[in-house]
Amino acid sequence: MSWDGEEELREHDAESGAFMAIAVHSTRLGPAVGGARMKTYASPDDAAADARRLSTAMTLKMAASGMAWGGGKGVIAVPPGGISGDARRELLRRYGRLVASLDGRYRTAPDVGTSSADMDVIAETAGSWVFGRSTARGGSGPSGPATAIGVHAAIRVTCDEVYGSAALAGRHLLVQGAGSVGGALIDLLLAEGARVSCSDLDRGAVRRFEERGVAFVDPGAVIGFPCDLFSPCALGGVLSADSVPRLRCRAVTGGANNQLADDAAAGALAARGILYAPDFIANSGGATSGIHMEADGWSRERVEQDVADRVTAALRAVFALARDAGLTSDAAARELARRRLESGGGRI
Ligand code: PHE
Repeated sequence: MSWDGEEELREHDAESGAFMAIAVHSTRLGPAVGGARMKTYASPDDAAADARRLSTAMTLKMAASGMAWGGGKGVIAVPPGGISGDARRELLRRYGRLVASLDGRYRTAPDVGTSSADMDVIAETAGSWVFGRSTARGGSGPSGPATAIGVHAAIRVTCDEVYGSAALAGRHLLVQGAGSVGGALIDLLLAEGARVSCSDLDRGAVRRFEERGVAFVDPGAVIGFPCDLFSPCALGGVLSADSVPRLRCRAVTGGANNQLADDAAAGALAARGILYAPDFIANSGGATSGIHMEADGWSRERVEQDVADRVTAALRAVFALARDAGLTSDAAARELARRRLESGGGRI
């Protein structure tokens, strides 16, 4: 896979059998920021490739959101079954040393498989190069709720575009993943009177929502499940040449990173008349809010309002450019990010 990033670290962790990779894609607009993903991969090369792809998405996310930050990502590939207890703690501390070795060119943060408590541990060795520590330790806490606020705003903009109304009351939404982002999103959707169906590999994670009227969807039935809008909030790669022809919805707007599995997927969505809200616009709220709270001292109230406003404005601009220039929404979002990167930043 070709990658136009700046630097990359790879380390085999002999003690735990884990493999760590940090990809710094771009520091053009500022220091690179991006989460630390912990999961099991088929091979170290797969893990490093994921770090590269995810770091590229962070550059786009920061650029398209008007942030003076670049893109990076850390991946901690753990053996099947994961690593827990003291061994996990020590692994996180060694990951923190790897982060520190980049002298601030990359700042880490929570992502799939890591929490605020993990950031507290990582900060023991990475020092101040960590976003998203627990609020008790002076951090901004979990990034899921703010990400969900942005995804919710993006869903409203998407529905406005597709159905001529941003109101979600009575609209049927399918949320894939009831984790930190999907779970917080379901709360916001239910509060607005939406009809929600939800899928998660862990049935138990959906139970507390089932009591409130959410219908459980078998993970194998997500693609092809009829709904008004599909919101992928789990892992990436759900939209592919194989899955897009089977979708039964008018729009896709979710919180997962890298939802498009291949280059053809964006075109396939557009050809079917399914409006896609680019993931790196819809899910930017976790990162922008954490950065503004910790690096700029903004209050939680201020960042929450800012996330909703920023995602709304950015997505409107994307849909407008897509329409005017005859681009897919993904190409339009990349173009807006590219313009800002080329001009070296500034407010948008
Ligand atoms: N996981 C976040 C994302 O993908 C990264 C992040 C969270 C960055 C919190 C900074 C602060 O956008």
